[in-house]
Amino acid sequence: MSCPDGSCREPAKRSRALIMLGLMMLVFIALSGISFVKSRGQVTPDTVSFGNHNAIDGKRVFQAYNCMGCHTLVGNGAYFAPDLTKEYESAGPAWLAAFLPSAGGWPTEGALKTQLLNKEIAADAGVDNIADYYKKFPGAKERVERRGGKTTYMPNLPFSADEVGRLIAFMKYTSAMNTEGWPPEVKTGDLAKRLELAHGPQAPGQTAAATNASTPPALTPAQHGEQLAKEFGCTACHATDGKRLVGPAWNGLFGSQVKLADGTTVTADSAYIAESILHPEAQVVESYPKGTMPAYGKLMTDEDVKALVAYMQTLK
Ligand code: HEC
Ligand code: HEC
Repeated sequence: MSCPDGSCREPAKRSRALIMLGLMMLVFIALSGISFVKSRGQVTPDTVSFGNHNAIDGKRVFQAYNCMGCHTLVGNGAYFAPDLTKEYESAGPAWLAAFLPSAGGWPTEGALKTQLLNKEIAADAGVDNIADYYKKFPGAKERVERRGGKTTYMPNLPFSADEVGRLIAFMKYTSAMNTEGWPPEVKTGDLAKRLELAHGPQAPGQTAAATNASTPPALTPAQHGEQLAKEFGCTACHATDGKRLVGPAWNGLFGSQVKLADGTTVTADSAYIAESILHPEAQVVESYPKGTMPAYGKLMTDEDVKALVAYMQTLK
């Protein structure tokens, strides 16, 4: 067939266009299919939970308390407080479970040991003793050594035990996100060197010798009790100057009448205080949350409890 006027080039162009369109359709369908494939090790992890708490509920708690008003998370939020994106990966569930309800004090090693007695927390951490925990979450060891027992600038938020669990689930989720190395690590190498130049390196054994020298030969039970209260992190939740922290203040407690949540009144004698320490859920003080104070039953000897009672007797 001859085309003197060029009219037969039209169908040829059209079929080329149709072939291209067909190819585009194939590419489009293939990409749509791929978008349904589950998370490919990118950005967001699949469902994350901590015990029976899930990350989605945790995000709601995080929003309800406006944590972002002070903290950053995955690049959003305010700069008053540390970034929390990788907090779980660094400090782990036991440190968070000890810190969150007792913001007011940084957890001590005793406080972490207490949390590890909780089966849910030990199962989540995958370890049940403090040495392995420190290996798995070096950030916890670093925090205990740097700040353990000291006060914090984080306000005291009235979390229930449930809310703490949910928040941990949420932070576990953000830790599992692939943020391609964000937030960047703070490089303190130079600063450490400059400080060393200014103050001289610490001689090995210097701290050990110093603490040995300053340890008094013998403590009275009350002094021992005061020391235990610091070591076990009780002071994060209990004041001795009448202030209401997470738990009731201890001054004036011994011998007083305590109103309980069940409407009864008890005298705060040695037996009551011992029971409050070993099995806090047995008698809950009126207007305070149940389940926030950890049970110290498995951690303390009778001697420890007696010392704590003796210490409280001195607090008027
Ligand atoms: C009013 C400000 C403020 C709010 C609101 C706040 N925080 Fe904090 N938070 C702080 C400050 C300040 C610190 C640092 C405390 C310190 O170093 O002593 C901190 C520390 C922390 C830490 C320890 C960080 C570290 O260095 O390991 C965690 C975990 C944490 N906050 C969680 C939360 C969560 C979860 C919420 C919301 C439920 C929240 N915070 C709400 C101010 C706040
Ligand atoms: C995470 C916060 C927290 C920590 C840590 C904590 N407690 Fe408590 N404690 C509470 C709360 C909340 C209550 C009130 C609710 C109840 O009775 O369980 C309480 C109640 C008590 C009571 C009864 C007080 C009263 O007025 O009748 C005693 C005694 C006590 N705690 C001792 C201790 C000792 C000793 C330690 C450390 C070995 C400790 N607590 C650690 C939160 C805490």
